[in-house]
Amino acid sequence: SNYESNSSSATSVESLLDELPKHKLFDICDIYQWEGFWYESRILEAALVFKSQFIARDDDFILASTVKTGTTWLKALCLSILHGNPDDKNKEEEILKKGSPHMHVPTIESMIFEENRYAIIEGMPSPRLIHTHLPYNFLSDSVKNSKCKIVYITRNPKDTFISWWYFMNSILRPNEEPFPLEKAFDCFSKGVYIHGPFFDHVLRYWNASLEMPERILFLTYEELKIDPTGQVKKLASFLGKSVDEVEVDDILWKCSFERLKNLEVNKNGYVPYNGLLNASFYRKGVIEDSRNYLTPDMEENLSRLCREKFQGSGLDL
Ligand code: A3P
Repeated sequence: SNYESNSSSATSVESLLDELPKHKLFDICDIYQWEGFWYESRILEAALVFKSQFIARDDDFILASTVKTGTTWLKALCLSILHGNPDDKNKEEEILKKGSPHMHVPTIESMIFEENRYAIIEGMPSPRLIHTHLPYNFLSDSVKNSKCKIVYITRNPKDTFISWWYFMNSILRPNEEPFPLEKAFDCFSKGVYIHGPFFDHVLRYWNASLEMPERILFLTYEELKIDPTGQVKKLASFLGKSVDEVEVDDILWKCSFERLKNLEVNKNGYVPYNGLLNASFYRKGVIEDSRNYLTPDMEENLSRLCREKFQGSGLDL
């Protein structure tokens, strides 16, 4: 496949990295700023290949999100909508029992352990269901010019931040020090972390969804929690499936936090293509848990950023 990386592209990425603003994220890795957003080097490398070479199909469904905003839940919901039926309840052939949402719906630029990642993506049968954490400006022209559909999910930045801080601490190696809340907050609020800044990521997809509502569906974690039936019906109809009440109830039950967290495929093992623990994607699954952690100053800081960044956009998180 012409998508496979070769040594010359690796060399050109190294020389590119030398030119980019660089920052040490805690003590674990260097991150690089490319067109306003921050990446780990190996993800940036994969992302550049994706941007220049990914060929979208008109019937692709691309899920998009920044980190810790409900990606796992959205992947599971789309899998159940497209590939489930009420009769497979509790049977071994149910898609969510056969593999984790991240296994079924790969995050393209995170397939860092897959040498032939684009051959895998190219080989997926239509309609493909794939995911990216990349910002809107990183999508290829092919994605923008095709008729493929995009579903973006986001979440209140306070809960997103706490979820991220927990996640980063949960993937520490045994010899690594936990990340203090204050230090993590500084990175998040300045946008200097992997796939940050949060606000710009959200705003670009939001604006694109206003321009092309028939192609980009914008969802929030909070709306899904508060009005699950209404939101799942909306999602299903966007994906071209009509679902009745019984089916919606079945989908919501199959994708509920408690159930997914306790499925064998999610309790054990790792996401094969990036090495993250499957279990690390299920923590608490509620809204406003951040109130138990943030200081009043931190709350005010994030509220102010929301007001400033989203002012005039019609978006409120
Ligand atoms: P918390 O850390 O607040 O619990 P992502 O999938 O984008 O990495 O986001 C992870 C967040 O979604 C975590 O939030 C996780 O617990 C929550 N989550 C995972 N599966 C969920 C589900 N089925 N329903 C609701 N929330 C879920």
